[in-house]
Amino acid sequence: RLPDASALVVFGATGDLARKKLIPAVYDLAHRGLLPPGFVLLGFARRDWPDEDFAEFARQAAEKGARTPFRAEVWDRLAGSVRFLPGSFDDDAAFDRLARTLESLEHSHGIRGNAAFYLSIPPSAFPVVLKQMQRTGLSSAAGSGGWRRVVVEKPFGHDLESARQLNALVDDVFTPSGVFRIDHYLGKETVQNLFALRFANTLFEPIWNSQFVDSVQITMAEDVGIGTRAGFYDETGAARDVLQNHLLQLLALTAMEEPVSFGAETIRTEKLKVLRAVSLPMDLTRYAVRGQYEQGWLAGERVPGYLDEQDIPAQSRTETFSAVRLGIETRRWAGVPFYLRTGKRLPRRVTEVAIFFKKAPHLPFDETATTELGNNQLVIRVQPDEGVTLKFGSKVPGSAMEVRDVAMDFLFGEAFTEALPEAYERLILDVLLGDATLFPNNAEVEESWRIVDPLERHWAGTTPHRYRAGTWGPAAADEMLAHDGRRWRRP
Ligand code: BG6
Repeated sequence: RLPDASALVVFGATGDLARKKLIPAVYDLAHRGLLPPGFVLLGFARRDWPDEDFAEFARQAAEKGARTPFRAEVWDRLAGSVRFLPGSFDDDAAFDRLARTLESLEHSHGIRGNAAFYLSIPPSAFPVVLKQMQRTGLSSAAGSGGWRRVVVEKPFGHDLESARQLNALVDDVFTPSGVFRIDHYLGKETVQNLFALRFANTLFEPIWNSQFVDSVQITMAEDVGIGTRAGFYDETGAARDVLQNHLLQLLALTAMEEPVSFGAETIRTEKLKVLRAVSLPMDLTRYAVRGQYEQGWLAGERVPGYLDEQDIPAQSRTETFSAVRLGIETRRWAGVPFYLRTGKRLPRRVTEVAIFFKKAPHLPFDETATTELGNNQLVIRVQPDEGVTLKFGSKVPGSAMEVRDVAMDFLFGEAFTEALPEAYERLILDVLLGDATLFPNNAEVEESWRIVDPLERHWAGTTPHRYRAGTWGPAAADEMLAHDGRRWRRP
């Protein structure tokens, strides 16, 4: 199914996200023939550019960032539908022009009032842009019978209170079914594969509970530092940037019950039930750890510490690593710890969900036979090396009875000839189709802040532990697991 003829309006169209992700994703959609005839990409940003300059910017972005090969004929077709509107967010006249432009696109492209507005802008600018859209009537296409949708980038607020206010505002300006809160992790194929793995098979679900599962580790590690996002990052920190959204969504998908069908409402309902059941540890000092990287070495290169990054205040107490132990108070998960961790400047880029199963209750072997036998593990490798690994014990060939861990691997790249699309490609397409299945709703966002707020309060005014760039985070994160008699996986 192709989306309706429509305009995708990108606020902040000359920014980093637009250049690296959104525009390449639009190109990929065009390349795969998934954009409707009558599609228009309309950039809105401060630069005083004519259409051609933006088209050239977009071409370069597509050439550099697209997953699919860059082909001049695909681009040329798309370029005919690329427009640009210069303006700042407090400029009433610019929004009036935007409204008129959308009207004129009804005639030239037959969009029938259909438009999606992508807020690829700093969160502080959300309210003013939303109010502008309300003032100019951009948020409703009632007259033309078309649809109006808004895509809100994370972070959605910076705590529960601000998220509630933002939710109230967005839901006031747009009809709630037209609001798409992006968490790009849900757009990843390997994350969606959690649904398939769990609910399309019989093998895993019977053991997916506290009777068999010892613990769960969810890791999102990055080798990069904060890049050029000092201003944003220093106000945000790892817990708000990643834990509140990506990690808690991964937790929800891992722990949720089977939805009655595969649709937005049913899936959101099940995820929400999990998030509501999440409990924080009593002892936050031990079980909520945050860290900040110091200079170190990565891939043979010396990298600066966080405090030496450009535009970071020398006294900053912002964390670049956070780890926490959560519980889920349901019959399925009671007593099973979920360990979550994320960090920048860790040894490698890797995201995974690792299910650790309980050890066999009894081993009929000599103790020495099983010294190299760990817990059975099912590891969902979100990225890179997308796939699933099952770790279990096997007999070591030879005359003695010796058991050692081995791995059974499924790799997307080997099993399928189809290439993995980029997350934003899928999500932009879903917005144009009006399918909200892969978008968290307001209640999920608020519930996630309910979990993160106490962590932030606990950390407020404290100094994060230090860790050397290129290591797996502060010692306190290891001690947290050691105290429970466990160890972090070294992916
Ligand atoms: C973003 C965070 O949401 O996700 C970034 O703001 C992070 O700090 C990025 O680098 C990671 O995304 P991915 O898809 O590369 O894992």
